[in-house]
Amino acid sequence: MASVPSLASTVQQRLADALSAALPEAGSADPLLRRSDRADFQANGILALAKRLKGNPRELAAKVVDAIPADDVLKEIEVSGPGFLNITITDEAIVRTLAARAADDRLGVAYATGAGTTVIDYAQPNVAKEMHVGHLRSAVIGAAMVEILKFTGEKVIRRHHIGDWGTQFGMLIQYLIEHPHELDHKDEGTVSGEEAMSNLNRLYKASRGLFDSDEEFKDRARRRVVDLQAGDKETLALWQRFVDESKIYFYSVFNKLDMEIDDVDVVGESGYNAMLAETCRLLEESGVAVRSNGALCVFFDDVKGPDGNPVPLIVQKSDGGYGYAATDLSAIRDRVQKLGATTLLYVVDARQSLHFKMVFETARRIGWLNDDVKAVQLAFGTVLGKDGKPFKTREGETVRLVDLLDEAIERATAVVAEKKEKAGLTDEEVVENGLYVGIGAVKYADLSTSAVRDYKFDLDQMVSLNGDTSVYLQYAYARIQSIKRNAGGRKPVAHPELELAPAERALGLHLDQFGEVLAEVATSYEPHKLAAYLYQLASLLTTFYDQCPVVRPEPPLEVGENRLFLVDLTARTLHQGMALLGIRTPERL
Ligand code: ARG
Repeated sequence: MASVPSLASTVQQRLADALSAALPEAGSADPLLRRSDRADFQANGILALAKRLKGNPRELAAKVVDAIPADDVLKEIEVSGPGFLNITITDEAIVRTLAARAADDRLGVAYATGAGTTVIDYAQPNVAKEMHVGHLRSAVIGAAMVEILKFTGEKVIRRHHIGDWGTQFGMLIQYLIEHPHELDHKDEGTVSGEEAMSNLNRLYKASRGLFDSDEEFKDRARRRVVDLQAGDKETLALWQRFVDESKIYFYSVFNKLDMEIDDVDVVGESGYNAMLAETCRLLEESGVAVRSNGALCVFFDDVKGPDGNPVPLIVQKSDGGYGYAATDLSAIRDRVQKLGATTLLYVVDARQSLHFKMVFETARRIGWLNDDVKAVQLAFGTVLGKDGKPFKTREGETVRLVDLLDEAIERATAVVAEKKEKAGLTDEEVVENGLYVGIGAVKYADLSTSAVRDYKFDLDQMVSLNGDTSVYLQYAYARIQSIKRNAGGRKPVAHPELELAPAERALGLHLDQFGEVLAEVATSYEPHKLAAYLYQLASLLTTFYDQCPVVRPEPPLEVGENRLFLVDLTARTLHQGMALLGIRTPERL
């Protein structure tokens, strides 16, 4: 199906044509069209143009208006203020445009021109460690960006850069050798994510304790690191056990989050081991990196420590060990040269921004990143507790992600159960909706504020039925479905010949913007703008219900059909938009 140009772009085009017809000396000037409260749109471009042409803006504006032929799209154009144009669209154009959108599976949303390949690095927890709220953010924001980018036609390759390598494995493996049953499962065969993690946790704490208190164990652990790096078979096999156990846990969390993670996309730090030496060699040979006190370093003019001395990016330590930076630089080579990425997107905590700034700059200097490939960190802020301080338990420990999700589901289920009778839900539906509402609430809270800002994790607020929450949006969707069920045989039919009420126009004009919002979100990597759009859509729907009865009191046939058409398109837009955010929309709630 063909994409449907938005009303805004149609109007923009007509104004641009009129501008060049009326003022040929203007060249191709932008009318600068915006949505407006006073009319449907406002064009502000003539002000700047008048300045440039040294003319009177109101006179120029009048000339442009004269050059616009009256037609079925533009109802009224008036010059206002110092030289703005206030533009009102015909009701007919609104309904016709929406009808064209409704006929299309993609709701008329165009594919992006010049789509490329984005490799997105997100949902990257660490082996043998509990996942925390920071990992939640990366997973939720990343998954939304994956869907949004795919929807615009981008080819998307996912990479879960899990922390699966490092010196801590020496201690873990050595401990397991000395306590061989620590990772055994209670039941042969099956193991829950919970059990896997609790084993790993126990082992991690015990081995850390020993490492810090027992010099001889420390020595054995260090030698184990050497074996691991040398690729000793037995050592590697034990390392693999840690990775496998952790994955059982990760997948159980992602599953709870209603999120699909494919094993082939889990390419952790260890996946780049074979490239590290070459990465360092290339950096050193090109002079991008230099030896400094034995370490291989990259220096930056604008990166200095508190003492004023430059802080380098260390790609190889003086003992020969490779760290986080060498791995990330190797991953860039792999993603650009092997996977053919045109964009590298990293959904990572803002506290790692300096690291990425230095890594990207290094890659640019050596040419792994260039004009054809861009790298972007979609940086996110910290999750705070209700008290505004970083999220911790009362005992000061990091909050376990699983506990949070379970609590969200529990609260959401209580909210859903209250409406059980009214919505006519079975017990199974209450359970299922509890999941969808609870997980949706957590995701939406994360996605509805600008990523880089810190946000408060407040479950009371998250599952509230009023306000900017996912439940509010889910109810809006379910309410439309219930209206459709109660429509008594009436069908959604667009009637462009009808005059629209103000609430119908407002809803219609907002529906028309869906594609533009998506295009913007896909280029700016700001999923919160999609959330804001959907919330606004649900709010306009609420106003519409107050003012425009759909079924009861029964409106005239065509009016009722046209309203059903509007709410049906609203539901489809909500459903599509929420799906892009990774949030389900139950049919009954
Ligand atoms: N595992 C890291 C952490 O938990 C995040 C990895 C981010 N991605 C990367 N390519 N460095 O903080």
